[in-house]
Amino acid sequence: MSYPYQIKSLEEYKAAWKKSVEEPEHFWADIASNFHWYKKWDKVVDWNFTEPSIKWFEGGKVNITYNCLDRHLVDKADQPAIIWEPNDPNDHHRILTYAQLHEKVVQFSNVLKNNGVKKGDRVCIYMGMIPELAIAVLACARVGAIHSVIFGGFSAQSISDRLQDAQAVFIITCDGAFRGAKDIPLKSVIDDALVNCAFVKRVIVYTHTRTAVSMIKGRDVWWEDEVRKVETAGNPDFPAEVMDAEDPLFILYTSGSTGKPKGVVHACAGYMVYTNYTFVNVFQYQPKEIHFCTADIGWITGHSYIVYGPLSAGATTLMFEGIPTYPDAGRFWDIVDKYKVNILYTAPTAIRSLMAFGLDPLKNKDLSSLRVLGTVGEPINEEAWHWYDEHIGKKKCPIVDTWWQTETGGVLISNLAGITPAKPSFATLPMPGVEPILLDEKGNEITENNVTGNLCIKSPWPSTIRTTYGDHERCRTNYFATYENLYFTGDGAYRDENGFYRITGRVDDVLNVSGHRIGTAEVENAINMHAGVVESAVVGYPHDVKGQGIYAFVIYSGTHGTPEMVKKDITATVSRIIGPIAKPDKIQLVSGLPKTRSGKIMRRILRKIAEGELDKIGDTTTLLDPAIVEEIKKGKV
Ligand code: WTA
Repeated sequence: MSYPYQIKSLEEYKAAWKKSVEEPEHFWADIASNFHWYKKWDKVVDWNFTEPSIKWFEGGKVNITYNCLDRHLVDKADQPAIIWEPNDPNDHHRILTYAQLHEKVVQFSNVLKNNGVKKGDRVCIYMGMIPELAIAVLACARVGAIHSVIFGGFSAQSISDRLQDAQAVFIITCDGAFRGAKDIPLKSVIDDALVNCAFVKRVIVYTHTRTAVSMIKGRDVWWEDEVRKVETAGNPDFPAEVMDAEDPLFILYTSGSTGKPKGVVHACAGYMVYTNYTFVNVFQYQPKEIHFCTADIGWITGHSYIVYGPLSAGATTLMFEGIPTYPDAGRFWDIVDKYKVNILYTAPTAIRSLMAFGLDPLKNKDLSSLRVLGTVGEPINEEAWHWYDEHIGKKKCPIVDTWWQTETGGVLISNLAGITPAKPSFATLPMPGVEPILLDEKGNEITENNVTGNLCIKSPWPSTIRTTYGDHERCRTNYFATYENLYFTGDGAYRDENGFYRITGRVDDVLNVSGHRIGTAEVENAINMHAGVVESAVVGYPHDVKGQGIYAFVIYSGTHGTPEMVKKDITATVSRIIGPIAKPDKIQLVSGLPKTRSGKIMRRILRKIAEGELDKIGDTTTLLDPAIVEEIKKGKV
């Protein structure tokens, strides 16, 4: 299959973008007609950003897994769909062809049905990066259940919050997951999470690490036993459930500037069309190529560019269980060499951490199969961009810097590999269908170039967030209320003389630590749960490898041991409440925080201190207690 909608030149890109904004209905109808529909849509798009109400391909009937699996059985049955590389290079890798993946998904769909899962049910998936994770995701989509994948690094408390919010009655997990030298006991974390979630009826457990687990009678069942039952019943077929275009496909929780993480909801048809379209165009995927996205399926990047985008395009997607530095810092390059990877899509933080090991890990690694490189998740600094270009791409591979978000479902701003120009540290131009604009502080559009502003999008693209699960108002206030009739991204951006966008980072209280989104309020809430903490304020600061580090200013009551002890305890508390990814890099115990007379914490001042810009703090005379700033400056860690 080649892709009739694959853009082949800069002129074609310009024409496609123009058509997409002038005649969005024609534009997207042409693309959507390349998919399998049980019934075609009645209307391509219907929207308003005030409620918001966003509907794509309404009236259409579809199942994304038919498009990811069944339709490829005609000409790709024996082509690898998933190549799986284990954490330990000495363990066996696995390859699932499209026929095999289809068979396993059908089988597991029957398992779900036998366990009572029905269309519309929420199923939480908490597994490591093994093929069964992809199988579980696809089986949910096949039966029409709404999956909610939770990253394996989140704590029991975080899982329990998400389960309650989604009212998920079913869980799919495994005994444990391998990550580098660690063995993470996933099932045991689930057991802790379920102490407060008696509504969970069924936990299906896959055996992977052979860690000891406790199986609760009547609630927990083994994946393998359940599959055997389906086999004994003669492996009945499981035709994909016919879904309405706008039925929810999945929920994925993500952090915002306030409150607990919110459940971003994506809809079946629009998400399918847009992830496929962007996969094919951004990476310029060619049939039979091997696409290696190093993200975890627990994040949106894994959903869109390990599972749904590549599989709906009939691509071969490589799934890696481990981490870039295990057993050594040459692991990515070994994988590229071993499978002759053509497309490598990773995060700037991974590039920076590998750069620190120098060029030795690259010795004797044949990277000549690489054709396209990509980055995602955070701004890429020029130094990392050039290292990637020179030492990995050997200056022959275009680098796509893809900007997007959990809420956008797929890439919104990026160059197209080898087709539209790249510029180091710039995501460059919008995808067809995407109309970015910049706004100033007052909410006025900035029309000139060489300016910085708040990045908004004017009109919907097919995989726009539909709602935040169970709380539509939250979706409205978070994304559609800051500026009238616009989707507000929460990011700032600079636009150069050619109209290329460079993302400058979040303009709200969201941190981006190693490409992971973490709300400062979330971390503060976790810190404040420690009995010795009176109050805290968390800000980000530049970190060489992680992009941003977490700096916590904490007012300590003095009642829980020495400062060193309490800092360790605070770290442990954050790990327990959120997960290890949210642990502060620096904790400074202070006697007060800089507050305005109305009691608002002046984060701007704390940010300057955390960044080490002690002479750029500015006016402090409006503070309730200006002297506190001097004290905090002196104690900076
Ligand atoms: C940031 C990840 C600069 C941005 C797909 C965004 C980026 C947040 C880029 C979303 C990029 C993502 N350049 N910044 N290429 N890609 N970001 O929801 O701040 O985990 O708002 O989605 O990551 O993170 P999320």
